[in-house]
Amino acid sequence: MAASGLLLVLFLFAHMAGNLKIFVGAASFDHYAHWLRDIGTPLLPRTWYLWLQRVGLTAAVVAHIASAAVLARRARAARPVRYAHRPKVQGSYAARTMRWGGVIILLFVVFHVLDLTTGTLNPVGDAQHPHANVVADFAPSRWYVTLFYTLAIVAVGFHLRHGIFSALRTFGQQSPRGEHRARAIALVLSVVLVVGYLSVPFAVLSGLVS
Ligand code: HEM
Repeated sequence: MAASGLLLVLFLFAHMAGNLKIFVGAASFDHYAHWLRDIGTPLLPRTWYLWLQRVGLTAAVVAHIASAAVLARRARAARPVRYAHRPKVQGSYAARTMRWGGVIILLFVVFHVLDLTTGTLNPVGDAQHPHANVVADFAPSRWYVTLFYTLAIVAVGFHLRHGIFSALRTFGQQSPRGEHRARAIALVLSVVLVVGYLSVPFAVLSGLVS
């Protein structure tokens, strides 16, 4: 769970940093998107690295979901007799929403790839001009798209807050002082990620990026 999650978190930060290029300008953002296809050349043929990354990320998502299923089965087996009375509040909001948060994120990624990678659901959908695709996506008239992105990105933030905290424990953090530090690290990283991602749709919505 922690190892596949770490790979996905690395992708999330790299992707967020790349998205921020939109504030440099359309040419810079488009150049960056085209460069993604050139990574690894001339050692590898064009787009090979991108496809290796796609295969790696898909494997990480499958491993992440499979580990979640194994852990859930183990937890059920450890308590075969259900609690007669189970107190409602258990753990943080982030911890209690891991399963449904994960489902929302998965559905979002499917929508997002059809929107900005294949262009199928995008009003412009021009692979040569990703900046134009993003600007068209978050136009004020398509407020519901921005709303969906916002919900999904906030879900990513909650998922990450609990996920990073749990991963730090898996990777060896055990002391009470370390626990405070782990909580703080998880919170700061999640907030940076959410603000970084949300800055793009809201910059388009407000006219800062056009
Ligand atoms: C407002 C926030 C976001 C923006 C503006 C954005 C923008 C983009 C763009 C422009 C692409 C196409 C890149 C290209 O092929 O040239 C893309 C691809 C992608 N994005 Fe995002 N993204 C955002 C949030 C996210 C989030 C939160 C996730 C994951 C939970 C994500 C996962 C992906 C994936 C998996 C791809 C496909 C990469 C590939 O082609 O292999 N994105 N995004």
